[in-house]
Order: sequence, then structure tokens, then C-alpha cells
Amino acid sequence: MATETFYVSTPIYYVNDVPHIGHAYTTVACDALVRYKRAAGCDAFFLTGTDEHGQKVEKAAAERGERPIDLADRVVTRFQTLWKSLDISNDRFVRTTEPAHRRSVEEIFRRVKENGDVYLGAYEDWYCTPCETFWTENQLIEGNCPDCNRPTDRLQEPSYFFRMSRYQDALLKHIEENPEFIQPVSRRNEIVSFVKEGLRDLSISRTSFSWGIPVPGDPDHVIYVWFDALTNYITGVGFPDDEETFSRYWPADVHVIGKDILRFHAVYWPTFLLSAGLPLPKKVFAHGWWTVEGKKMSKSLGNVVDPAAMAEEYGVDAFRYFVLREVPFGLDGDFSREALVHRINSDLANDLGNLVSRVLAMLGKYRGGVVPRVVSFGTDGPDEEMRDALANTLAEVDRCMDELAFNRALTAIWQFVGVVNRYVDTTAPWVLAKDDARAGRLDQVLYNACEALRGIGLLVFPFMPRTGREIWRRLGMPRPADEGRFEELREWGGLPADARTERGPSLFPRIEAP
Ligand code: MSP
Repeated sequence: MATETFYVSTPIYYVNDVPHIGHAYTTVACDALVRYKRAAGCDAFFLTGTDEHGQKVEKAAAERGERPIDLADRVVTRFQTLWKSLDISNDRFVRTTEPAHRRSVEEIFRRVKENGDVYLGAYEDWYCTPCETFWTENQLIEGNCPDCNRPTDRLQEPSYFFRMSRYQDALLKHIEENPEFIQPVSRRNEIVSFVKEGLRDLSISRTSFSWGIPVPGDPDHVIYVWFDALTNYITGVGFPDDEETFSRYWPADVHVIGKDILRFHAVYWPTFLLSAGLPLPKKVFAHGWWTVEGKKMSKSLGNVVDPAAMAEEYGVDAFRYFVLREVPFGLDGDFSREALVHRINSDLANDLGNLVSRVLAMLGKYRGGVVPRVVSFGTDGPDEEMRDALANTLAEVDRCMDELAFNRALTAIWQFVGVVNRYVDTTAPWVLAKDDARAGRLDQVLYNACEALRGIGLLVFPFMPRTGREIWRRLGMPRPADEGRFEELREWGGLPADARTERGPSLFPRIEAP
């Protein structure tokens, strides 16, 4: 049977801003998802990158007296360094300034044009430069941009248009026939009403600046940033030259994005693809926004959360765990050090960290740290309960990950951590150890507890790769957790006997309140 494929993407980030928690959030979520899919046996592909063209970058570079490409080169390394330090396992990083991307944009433009969907016109409307968006009169709020509240300018320029209006019905039909296409449901309803109001043709070129991909055949125009940027999702999987990779991974299983850029992904992008005769992504999932201690995050408030600093201070895994556990994916959330420290102390130090150290400490004390060899795994109530709980957890986590419900997946894993902690409490190895006649039962209990830890190590791995790896290492597993597959957890007893374990220091030392 051919291996199932899975393709997930983040938005590509603008290079006129430095990375913050909002960027890290999407990227960490996609990373957890792709690692999960790999451990589930999929051939999974993960794309991220940077959005480097457009007026904002051109302006920012001019203000610093540098070339746009130099600015992009500088900022792009900040993203790449951050992703490395957060253990992001992307397979490809697309920069919209790379030749392969230009080739891809030119080709999709050509196909859309060939289909009769591009015409030259004049564009006039209210333009918000910071947001690079034209607004209609009635979208403005007291004359200002409805997104950022800054003043807009009346702007007219010659422009190529894309006949988006032509795809209104096809798009609506697609949304109706594919209830999974736009998630969460509340967002889907927003898009349906927007499309029903009527789609206007879309201006897809600009003459007012030059930092972009020239329109094929008319280099006075550059291609509108969103037409350029959205195309990264196919560039990243080989469009148009590498047909094998492209047909392997496209259509994407999910584009993960923030709620502010849903319209571009759920309306513009699908209509471009329909026109170009390419399949639509299977799902677009819009997550919520983070505020910081109750306030909107902004440079002027000076409250921008730097993910690298958080990871350095509290640990990469603690940061990854926090952002995915704290808030249901799709809803808005609030970041505070207090909440982060609370999660670390209760879930990571108390529940998980304690469990690992108490099990390995007992194994050290009673069996010299060597995983016992057992003939059976026991049929007592707690033994069976724990085995069933692992099977149920695997099934529940799988359902949650299909819905991108990271917080529920983690809750389910932590319920299992609770089951294992109770297993140790009820089987009381310290009592068994006092009675030589019960040595066999003690072996069984210690084996089972370690075997449960093997499961936990692999289950947490997608979310917290370092922790998962470390749990497996301490258990003396012959392979790193990176190579683990959930399939191996379906049968109880995969932990090799006689392995030498290591207790090690606390996985998550408690942190005093900030
Ligand atoms: N370049 C475009 C995306 C093009 S995709 C074809 C862009 N870039 S961005 O850098 O401004 O934003 C990228 C992502 O960061 C968006 O998904 C946005 O929702 C997310 N976030 C920005 N601030 C955020 C928060 N405060 N909280 C959560 N996510 C936030 O848009």
C-alpha cells in the first residue's frame, strides 16, 4: 500500500517585522501536527517561508538606505534562526525572492491569463499602505482602514484584474460541498456571507512601486503581493517543474493561518487555483490571536513577546507546550508569564516530570535501573485499566489531531499521565519491594510503568520533541523518539527488557512565581 502523504503549511511571514509569538504560534502548531503525522506513518511535508516583496518592504528598506533584498536577507535569517531554536522541522523554506518562486508565479499567472481571467483596467479605491489593501468606501471606518485604523489614500492606477467574480458560484459550491474546507465553522460562516455579498474582480498588479515580480509581458507592472505570496504554497512542492513532488503533495492537507488573513486564503487563493485548473487545498484553518496580559500586542506598547527569549528563559518545550495547551486552536488567547509558569509547575513539573522521575527512581532502587524481563504483563484491575487507557488515548489523540484540537490532544495525554501516576499509587512498588515472595509482581509493575512511559514519550514527542527524546533515552530505548511510530504502541510490551535506564535530573524543575 502506498504511504499516505500529508502536507501542511504556515503563512509566509513578512520580512518587515521581526518574529514574535504570533508567528511562533502558527509555526509551532504546524510543527506539532507534521511530527504527529510522521509518527503516524505518513510521508508528511511541512512548508514555511518568508513574504519578501511589496511596498512595505520597499519602503522599510528605503528608510534605512538599503536595497530591499539586503533587508530581506537580514530578516530572513532571524526567522530561520528562530525556527531552529524552536525545533521546527520544516522540509522546505520558501523565499518569495527566489528564482523557483518567480517561475511558479509566472506560470500560474500565465495559466490564469490563458483561461481569459486577466484584463487590463484602472483601479481606484481607498488604499491602506501599511496593510497593502484596497478598501471600498463603505468598508472604511470613519475614513480609516478597518484593519489597522490608519488613514487611507484615494488611489488610482492602471492595473491588471483577475476575474474573481466569475468564480463566485463555483467557490460557494465548493464550500458547501466540503464542510471541512474552512475551519473553524464560525469562520466558515463569515466567508460564506462575504462571498454571497458578491465577489468583485481583483486587482492583481501594481505600477506604484517596483519591488516585486514583473507581470510577464508588461514589466511596468509588478504582481500584487497576495497573488505572489499565496503561490508559495505550490512553489514549495515543486510547481511547475517538479511534477513528481507536486503531484505527490498537492493539494495541501491544510493551510494553517491566523484569522486576519482568512479571506486571502479562503476566497482569493481558491479562485486563483480554480482559474488555473489546479486542485484546491483540502482545508484552511484559521487560529485566533494572542493578546499579552490582556492587551493587544504592539510595538508602541512595547509588549511584543519574543519567542526566542521565552524559550531561552523557560525552555523550548515549555513554550511549545504552553501555546498549544493554553488555548483551543481557533480561539483567541492571552499570554502572560504567570500563566506560563503556572502550566510549567502544574502540568510539566508536577504531573509529567514527577512521574518520570519517580518511576525511574524506583527502578533504580529496586532493580538497579535495569528494565525487568517479565513473562506476562499482569491481569489485575490497574494493569488492564492502564493498557486500555493507552489504547483509548491513542485513538482520542488521533481524533483531536485530525481536528487540529491541540489542547484537547494534550489534555488526553495528560489524563493518561494521571492514570499512570495512579497506577504507581495503587500498585505501591515500595510495599511489594518489602516482600521477596512478590518479586515477580514488582517486576511486572515496574515494567508496566516504564512501558507506559515509553508511550508517553512518543505521545508528547510531536509537541515537545526534546522531552519525548529524553524520556526514550532515559528508558534505554535503542532508537531515538524521532524514529518512533504510534503503530509500535498498539501492542503492550514493546519496551525491550534488560535495557539500562537512567534517572537523570528533573525534566522540569519548578519555577518560583514571577
Ligand atoms: N505575509 C502574510 C501572509 C502571507 S501567506 C501567503 C502575513 N504575514 S505576517 O507576518 O504579518 O503574519 C503572519 C501570521 O502571523 C498571520 O497568520 C497572523 O495571523 C499571525 N499573527 C500576527 N500577530 C498575531 C498574534 N498576535 N497572535 C496570533 N497570530 C498572529 O500576514
